[in-house]
Amino acid sequence: MCGIVGYIGDKSAADILMDGLKQLEYRGYDSSGVALMETDKIDIYKAEGKLQNLNDILFMNRDKIVGSTLGIGHIRWATHGAPTVVNAHPHTCNCGGVAIVHNGIIENFKELREKLEAQGCTFRSQTDTETVAHLIAKKYSLCKDLTEAVRLASKEIDGAFALCVMHKDHPNKMVITKRNAPLLVGIGEGEFFAASDVPAIIKYTKKAVYLKDNQIATLTRDDMQIIDTDNNSIFFTPEILPWEPVALSKMGYKHFMLKEIHEQPSVVRNILAGKLHSIDSEIALDEVKLDKSTLKNLNRIQIIACGTSLHAAMVGKYIIESFCDIAVDVEASSEYIYRKTVTNENTLVIGVSQSGETADTLTAIKQSKAKGSHILIITNRPDSAMAREADSLISVNAGIEVSVAATKSYMAQLLSFYLLALKMAEVKGSLDDSLLKTLKSELMVLPQKLEQILVHKEDIQQCAKIYANTKDFIFIARGVNYPTALEGALKLKEISYINATGYPAGELKHGPIAMLDESMPVLSILMKGTVYDKILSNSEESKARNARMIALTNSTDDKLNTLFDFVIRIPEIQEYLSPLLAIVPLQLLAYYIAEFLGKDVDQPRNLAKSVTVE
Ligand code: F6R
Repeated sequence: MCGIVGYIGDKSAADILMDGLKQLEYRGYDSSGVALMETDKIDIYKAEGKLQNLNDILFMNRDKIVGSTLGIGHIRWATHGAPTVVNAHPHTCNCGGVAIVHNGIIENFKELREKLEAQGCTFRSQTDTETVAHLIAKKYSLCKDLTEAVRLASKEIDGAFALCVMHKDHPNKMVITKRNAPLLVGIGEGEFFAASDVPAIIKYTKKAVYLKDNQIATLTRDDMQIIDTDNNSIFFTPEILPWEPVALSKMGYKHFMLKEIHEQPSVVRNILAGKLHSIDSEIALDEVKLDKSTLKNLNRIQIIACGTSLHAAMVGKYIIESFCDIAVDVEASSEYIYRKTVTNENTLVIGVSQSGETADTLTAIKQSKAKGSHILIITNRPDSAMAREADSLISVNAGIEVSVAATKSYMAQLLSFYLLALKMAEVKGSLDDSLLKTLKSELMVLPQKLEQILVHKEDIQQCAKIYANTKDFIFIARGVNYPTALEGALKLKEISYINATGYPAGELKHGPIAMLDESMPVLSILMKGTVYDKILSNSEESKARNARMIALTNSTDDKLNTLFDFVIRIPEIQEYLSPLLAIVPLQLLAYYIAEFLGKDVDQPRNLAKSVTVE
């Protein structure tokens, strides 16, 4: 959470910082601020709420700020202290000499604060970050060297941080450092850009260096030096970022979420192009670095993830167990890390994360790695912290996802699980050959079927209008689509704030059915196959309690029009693969309901896309 940016060069720092912060808004939008170097002093501008509020303030001060060519900026997702102006970054020391922006959490900030207060520092905010500003200032007052002050301060800080630091006495210097939080440096001609993530800099340069933990970079307009906390010089080689600025545009769609939903057929096409060539050839998944005999003899897998990625993991469990006869446990990372887990060198641990930065999942992965497990990471960000922990890495290649609500990355995660499960089944010989071929051939036509759903999106728009004004929503499903019900409910609640819940359909009668009456919509995910009749019976039970019934189905049975008030039809597909299709109408339903209610679809309240705090 939180995003930081820094700029040193010959252009307007305010413009570049604001542009960068706009691209990092997915990391939080509780407050924002910038610090700009002026002659002999640093000016700070801060605002509560959305970035536009800061923009308005800067616009009013345009004449004052336009000449500044060095600055740092921050967009906040509040952890310590309310999202007020006083708690907004940048934070400064008492004399205003040092200004810093920070992403992460300083765990020992209370002890540091007490110590610094005893030494005469006066604190203005409730943040953990302000301690670091005072600490660096104290170090600087002794050594008069900004890099050294940051290095000494970083040795006293526990926790996670990415920091950009400037000092009023150094109009040609910015110092940055990090530990367990992302930070990269973009290299331009006579200019450097620092940022929490690529989107903030890609418009300006593709040449970059990812800073490693405990490295400290000193940036001047024409030079970059990196040292470690022991003062050793670090040799670095810049890399070329494989990103295109166009990925950050809405391409004519009203929201990024809608654009990303529509990108799903091409995401699937791209993934399949590299991995599934024909129904007769083996799945190409060389990224999994387990030799065939280890794969064959695996008897336990643990999958760890959060939120939407957790739902992809649940589908993963279902199909790996079904195709490969291997026991799979799925667990929310936040639960996994605070209990004794039976994980060892014989366990394959799979971490799933769009961002690759989610703190809980990262910690869980590090814990299981320490126990000797092989770590397979499934992520959309091969440049992330989690990817760096991986023994095997499946990069899902969904392209950058800007909307806070995950859509195309979920599709790409699901598909990665299918390919992984089929690959393992091939190695183990655990799946009937004709089923293997059917699944492969159905996967090959998946993009066209996804397109068919998107072509008929008006039906879902109509459904959204009918049900938008409900307070609650229930999604029911069974088997491989139970996670689809959970994901449909999550999408709806996170962007529309309607209280939506997914249930295994068979569980309704064990409690939730008490909530049903004529005001409650119940959406049944009715995919043809083993549990179709069972869900139909559960739908009858709900209908008998006067619930407002919606079907999402791939059946053409006309009788459904009698039982259900609204029927959303999707193309037929083999039951195991049905989560790949069934989720799309639910993403659209959530989108259209939120849009109809006038909600901030791409930036729902209280959320951030990259959850880098536990
Ligand atoms: C919901 C959503 C979140 C994330 C969760 C994990 O739309 O996006 O639930 O799935 O915060 O994030 P990652 O996948 O980046 O680890």
